[in-house]
Amino acid sequence: MANSLLVRLQALPWAAKEGFAMLLDTVTGAPERKQAALAYVKAHATAGNPASVLAALDDFGRNRRFLMNIGDEKGPLLEKYIHQAGTHPRMLELGGYVGYSAILFSQMMGRSGQLVSIELNPQAVNVAQQMVEFAGLSGQVDILQGDSHELIPQLSGHFDLVFLDHWKNLYTRDLQLIESNQLLKPGSTIIADNCGPLFNPDVYLNYVRNHSLYTSTYISAHLEYQTIEDGVEVSTWQGS
Ligand SMILES: C[S@@+](CC[C@H](N)C(=O)[O-])C[C@H]1O[C@@H](n2cnc3c(N)ncnc32)[C@H](O)[C@@H]1O
Repeated sequence: MANSLLVRLQALPWAAKEGFAMLLDTVTGAPERKQAALAYVKAHATAGNPASVLAALDDFGRNRRFLMNIGDEKGPLLEKYIHQAGTHPRMLELGGYVGYSAILFSQMMGRSGQLVSIELNPQAVNVAQQMVEFAGLSGQVDILQGDSHELIPQLSGHFDLVFLDHWKNLYTRDLQLIESNQLLKPGSTIIADNCGPLFNPDVYLNYVRNHSLYTSTYISAHLEYQTIEDGVEVSTWQGS
């Protein structure tokens, strides 16, 4: 509780700066942030080179306008879990935004991996599709536009990996939906971003940590491109 309050106090200058930057963008008519990020990538990265696309997005998110990507600190910490998922991993992502994590995880999974990304915002879907295509990964990534709650029941088969990174209050609801639609198999790994104190993650953390069919670990790091504490919860499904 005290730690959570302290982290929120530490985040105040960043939140105020971010709010002011958004206001300034509106007043000056700056290009929409996701579109601006795509233009920046096309100008600074190499087509067909996913690492260069990620580097350009990190540069944009850190030095120009904030982007809510998993980012270059938390992202690499997850590589070992992606590699543990076998030789033909299948991954489900909730919340695709501009395509950063889809590109990162597809690159980590290698050419035999497949990623399904569900994203609500049509503008973000459009940008993510172009981003993934520019990175040369269209064959590995399937981006579905819509609400996770409506699209999850339409999926079939099992996922080795699930990345929860949409709105934080939806994690528990949608993980339960994934379970009840039998999209998990023994050993499936659930990776949940933004489980640090800033995001008030108690409902989700209590669920995975107290559920007899999950084993769960917290990886401590920082909010993307910031010094504010954040972390990722990695949980393994032991059910059938
Ligand atoms: C933190 S961003 C995702 C960042 C991305 N995973 C990455 O690391 O590059 C959250 C995204 O979730 C999307 N979102 C929020 N609620 C959703 C829902 N119910 N279904 C699908 N997408 C949703 C938002 O539109 C937003 O683009």
